[in-house]
Amino acid sequence: PASLTILGLESSCDDTAAAVVRVDDLGRANVLASVVADQTDLHAAFGGVVPEIAARAHAEKLDLCVEQALTQAEITLAEVDAIAVTAGPGLIGGVVSGVMCAKGLSAATGKPLYGVNHLAGHALTPRMTDQVPYPYLMLLVSGGHCQFLIVSGPDDFSRLGGTIDDAPGEAFDKVARLISLPQPGGPSIEQAALSGDPARFPFPRPLMDRDTCDMSFSGLKTAVLRARDAIVAEKGGLTRQDQSDIAASFQAAVVEVLATKTKKAFKNYPHDAPRTFCVAGGVAANKAIRTALETVSTQNEADFVAPPLSLCTDNAAMIAYAAAEQCHLRGPDDLTLSARPRWPL
Ligand code: KG4
Ligand code: ZN
Repeated sequence: PASLTILGLESSCDDTAAAVVRVDDLGRANVLASVVADQTDLHAAFGGVVPEIAARAHAEKLDLCVEQALTQAEITLAEVDAIAVTAGPGLIGGVVSGVMCAKGLSAATGKPLYGVNHLAGHALTPRMTDQVPYPYLMLLVSGGHCQFLIVSGPDDFSRLGGTIDDAPGEAFDKVARLISLPQPGGPSIEQAALSGDPARFPFPRPLMDRDTCDMSFSGLKTAVLRARDAIVAEKGGLTRQDQSDIAASFQAAVVEVLATKTKKAFKNYPHDAPRTFCVAGGVAANKAIRTALETVSTQNEADFVAPPLSLCTDNAAMIAYAAAEQCHLRGPDDLTLSARPRWPL
């Protein structure tokens, strides 16, 4: 296939993003520009992402992000080969904003339009950076998702199991809120955990003896709430050390669950298949989690691949890249493309 230059748009959660990716005739990806406007400030006062505020901000920022991406890539809209957009799953108002914007760009330029599954975007990132061959085993772990996948092609995913309630990133964020650490919770818990005792609180590790890759994180959050309330009842508040000990004990529980379930995922992965284990998603930034998963990979004779953080967290480059891979398997979408709040892989 010839080289392809794709403009990607992403607006399914709280990051407004646009990117230009060129994939050469050998399938190697080159990110010419990747612009991400995060909305953390807008939602800070509410303690979580407010869908209505997110949707409005996407609608206001998308065209600006597109313009910036094109400028940074030193390319005009006329020079791109296709327009890719996250069409779900996600917060519907944001996804609609992105789809509408992409349709407008496609209609105005005549460029083909590709609606991309956000999870497929995450799942294909290891190929962008490391040209990982199919199939590979992967863990997608972020604020909204947590699942093990066998990725066998650009549009061929088999799910081995995942969370039955909260995603780990969501748990990090909620626990940070419970113990008064700043948002986003992941980095602040990781930081606090460095000076904490991971053995002080025996937080639950549910579903561990099951042979499936299913996980549960909501009980963990409730256990943290109880531990906090017990300390507050006894001493009137949390000391810095209490915060650190809770953070460390919580993180240790998440690490153990993810590592144990990764072992189970390897049991469900064909033994004679190529062996690469990839992680993606914002939680993959966590060093304790990365290290534990890398160890499990090594024990299972698999290469461990973790894309750089800028491609692990929500971005539009992965959406453009996914379209570049998928367009060899399917035709473009037309203006009937609709935004899907739910869209399992
Ligand atoms: O992939 P992402 O940017 O957005 C989606 O959820 O799709 O992931 C954001 C999540 C947040 O919940 C954040 O707290 C978590 O990833 N996160 C971390 C770390 N950095 C970000 N969790 C644990 N440790 C970290 N260092
Ligand atoms: Zn995501």
